[in-house]
Amino acid sequence: MSSYQSQPGCRDEQQRQQQQQAASLSYTQNAAAASHHPSISSEAASSGHHRSSKKRPVVFVVYYSMYGHIERMAKEVVAGVEASGCECRLFQIAETLPSEVLSKMHAKEKNSQVPIISVDQLPEADGILFGIPTRFGSAPTQVRALFDQCGRHWMSDALFGKPVGIFFSTGSLGGGQETTALTCVTFFSHLGMIFVPLGYKDKSLQNIDEVHGGSAYGAGTLAGDGSRQPSALELKVAQTQGRQFGKVVKKLAR
Ligand SMILES: Cc1cc2nc3c(=O)[nH]c(=O)nc-3n(C[C@H](O)[C@H](O)[C@H](O)COP(=O)(O)O)c2cc1C
Repeated sequence: MSSYQSQPGCRDEQQRQQQQQAASLSYTQNAAAASHHPSISSEAASSGHHRSSKKRPVVFVVYYSMYGHIERMAKEVVAGVEASGCECRLFQIAETLPSEVLSKMHAKEKNSQVPIISVDQLPEADGILFGIPTRFGSAPTQVRALFDQCGRHWMSDALFGKPVGIFFSTGSLGGGQETTALTCVTFFSHLGMIFVPLGYKDKSLQNIDEVHGGSAYGAGTLAGDGSRQPSALELKVAQTQGRQFGKVVKKLAR
């Protein structure tokens, strides 16, 4: 067994996470109220999938959030995915920092309603959208730790050909609204995943009358010093990304 496949130190933790996840329902089931967006014209409803016995493609929205900005964006992304007719399941990425450090960083308490993703679950998804807050223009250690556990998926092609996308949050305008996505593309490529950009599908991205996050690579928000919250424009773009990504997943899952 190669070192990529064997991760004995993680086994107990993985079992714990699997039990936790087994106990939790899909996001669609357990948090439908939290993600209810009457404003979305639901292709899910119009396609009549609720009456069909055909299994819907499943999109995982997997995020890490220290101060809540990405968590807020994730809810809109989920709403968009559901509007596309895909099933959507929301997960968060495990914390790696000790609580004393988190406390000194004024980190927000984690949302106990959102299960922690186990690396073993990733292949169950037909497509994955990662929500990532920038650290020095790239993904934080917490996200890298999940990526670094994917050696066995790399060796077995378990994620090969699956669509993947990313949405992000930065403190400042030039702080990583492009590089955070681009520096994750190396990981996606090694796994053989198909990076699905947002492009300029949502024309709000071209709005230069107001300050906003987002780029051709995905939806984004600007946290500033932490007090700024995702704007209406940014939340709308996040929905668009979820919906467009869901459409691609449906096409590829046929
Ligand atoms: C150690 C550290 C490094 C950071 N590096 C950057 C950076 O390179 N560019 C930037 O714009 N923001 C940077 N930030 C700000 C974070 O991106 C911001 O806190 C985050 O996007 C907020 O998202 P969240 O509320 O979901 O955690 C950094 C924050 C920390 C704690």
